[in-house]
Amino acid sequence: MKKLRAGILGATGMVGQRFILLLQDHPYFELTMLAASAKSAGQSYERAVEGRWKMSSPIPEQVKAMRVFDASDVEACAEKCDFVFSAVVMQKDELKALEEAYAKAETPVVSNNSAHRFTPDVPMLIPELNPEHTDVIAAQKARLHTKNGFIAVKPNCSIQGYVPLLTPLMDFGIESVAVTTYQAISGAGKTFADFPEILDNVIPYIGGEEEKSEQEPLKIWGKVENGEIVPAKSPVITAQCLRVPVSDGHMAAVFVKFAHKPEKDEIIRRWRAFAGEPQRLDLPSAPKPFITYFDEPDRPQTGLDRDLGRGMGVCAGRLRPDSLFDYKFIGLSHNTLRGAAGGAVLSAEYLCRKGFLKEKE
Ligand SMILES: NC(=O)c1ccc[n+]([C@@H]2O[C@H](COP(=O)([O-])OP(=O)(O)OC[C@H]3O[C@@H](n4cnc5c(N)ncnc54)[C@H](OP(=O)(O)O)[C@@H]3O)[C@@H](O)[C@H]2O)c1
Repeated sequence: MKKLRAGILGATGMVGQRFILLLQDHPYFELTMLAASAKSAGQSYERAVEGRWKMSSPIPEQVKAMRVFDASDVEACAEKCDFVFSAVVMQKDELKALEEAYAKAETPVVSNNSAHRFTPDVPMLIPELNPEHTDVIAAQKARLHTKNGFIAVKPNCSIQGYVPLLTPLMDFGIESVAVTTYQAISGAGKTFADFPEILDNVIPYIGGEEEKSEQEPLKIWGKVENGEIVPAKSPVITAQCLRVPVSDGHMAAVFVKFAHKPEKDEIIRRWRAFAGEPQRLDLPSAPKPFITYFDEPDRPQTGLDRDLGRGMGVCAGRLRPDSLFDYKFIGLSHNTLRGAAGGAVLSAEYLCRKGFLKEKE
């Protein structure tokens, strides 16, 4: 198979840096275009990220000398790639317009950004959970008047430690969910060096995160109707999101109430057996298993378990009865891998295998 040419919008940022590492020697994709703000444009990548490369692995040799383009120069950027990953920090309206401009330039966008998450004909994918939402892409292309260009997004990193664990239990009639997330500082694009106030501290506020944590799962569980995704009406979700002194990995403490309460063993059996299209298609980034349940009472732990399945696996533990809800448990996922760049690369692999991403004519 000929590799597709991939570009990155926001290549100099924390998520962009992750994309660069994940696309090194990727079997489906070859990195051919890097873009960021006008401030970085025109420089070599190595120069543009001088003093702010935040990954533990070095910049790949072949990327160092690549020129950084201005992401707003859509024509110049689009001609260098077959599709783009997007991870830029911009005003929501500007970002919406930028991503649509790429789609209209027949350059599909697989985005980490939140701007289009609630656009009804834009799929918000966790490919194991809702691959059928790609059915709305045809309607989106009709709206944008494109042949191949479209936008697909991934959900917020905060929900990926609990939505994959609730999904295999939906047919027991989940009525309500209370969740508290313990979120890593890389979710704010930070390391300990540039976030000293988090040491020996917990910050009980992450702007906009609780709303996303309560609303985005309902789109993931929504149904495609007449070219749009109609969000599910239930369960009711209430969330609190805390920033904790952890480099990577978002933990979730979850309480859940069912209409038909399942046995504990049945829940664990379903978690361990749960696989989706990425596992069936043997996609390069698909973790196997998708979900790992720990029997040990002190697992999962963020530091020990976030890298399971190369940071793409979802962990669960401490499932036990609750006096107010039916059960409580702990979930964990890696926020910049499964929750950001890795999740987008997995979505792109799925879109590629299904023929939505292809070589430009
Ligand atoms: N970090 C996470 O765990 C995580 C998880 C899920 C989603 N996200 C989302 O992913 C996006 C990127 O996050 P991040 O942590 O990587 O942010 P970041 O480290 O602050 O990087 C921001 C990127 O956006 C670029 N940029 C800023 N203004 C621009 C403009 N006007 N035009 C084009 N590019 C521009 C920056 O380029 P310059 O270097 O040239 O300024 C940089 O490449 C955000 O929307 C964030 O919410 C992050």
